[in-house]
Amino acid sequence: MKVLLATEKPFAAAAVNGIRQIIEDAGHTLVLLEKYTDRNQLVTAVNDANALIVRSDIIDTNIIKAAPELQIVVRAGAGYDNIDLETTRERNIIVENTPGQNSNAVAELVFGMAVMAVRNMYDGTSGTELKGKRLGIHAFGQVGRNVARIAKGFGMDVSALDPFCPDEVMIQAGVKPVHSVEELYTNNDVVSLHIPATAETRGSVGARLINLMPKGALLINTARKEVINEPELEEILAERPDLKYVADIKPGNAETLVEKFGSRVFFTPKKMGAQTAEANINAGLAAARLIVQYFNDGSAPHQVNR
Ligand code: 3PG
Repeated sequence: MKVLLATEKPFAAAAVNGIRQIIEDAGHTLVLLEKYTDRNQLVTAVNDANALIVRSDIIDTNIIKAAPELQIVVRAGAGYDNIDLETTRERNIIVENTPGQNSNAVAELVFGMAVMAVRNMYDGTSGTELKGKRLGIHAFGQVGRNVARIAKGFGMDVSALDPFCPDEVMIQAGVKPVHSVEELYTNNDVVSLHIPATAETRGSVGARLINLMPKGALLINTARKEVINEPELEEILAERPDLKYVADIKPGNAETLVEKFGSRVFFTPKKMGAQTAEANINAGLAAARLIVQYFNDGSAPHQVNR
């Protein structure tokens, strides 16, 4: 079988070597399309691929149509909002993800950006500390749980909102369960977003919620840019000079936000949360193993397009 690893944002070399070993040891062939700059390169490369490993690469109808032999797509990562699930279902193509494999990397970035923000982007002025501050985690999945673990080390008072997670799981992690989004934003000095981009969450964090946050609050987004209502974010940052917003990937209005609000905002140039050698190895090798498993016995334990 031909397995295509297509990553516009490439994995660390050690991850690619590990993926190759797993694929070739199982008797398959690995083809690489890394750092591609034109989607036509992807269209051409998928032509004879039986399996595809991707990161945030957009796998839409055009790509799926260009891949007549495709049987399985594995998103080496957590979020699969980049893959057209409906079209894959129509074509009986399995889609899987690798939950949890890059979550520590993302959680560590939350604190990298949090410290930078509360220390005023290291501009030489006096900042604040995270110790003793209240942290609200918006969605308690794999990343949210790692954020909670690290927050405890900082001495933060942690609460979380997640309708899909039983209270006991949070309580066991030393986290206070919160049952309304209003409560989460009202009662926390720092809110960290970990909701996926879905029809329900797109644009769901806007002026109303952000304005509930206490004086001097910080909103951190290492989830998806799409969950923020960007025009309303701009409005509320203008109305509330005490607020800060840091995000792992630029919003659409990033230039305006930087121009208007300077060091009260910070954005990574590319999505960097999972951009560590460890996360690349964990997610990449897990993806390769899922493909081998599928071709061996037809099982797909992390299928997301049933
Ligand atoms: C994920 O959903 O796993 C993260 O957002 C990482 O995405 P990436 O593989 O594009 O860096």
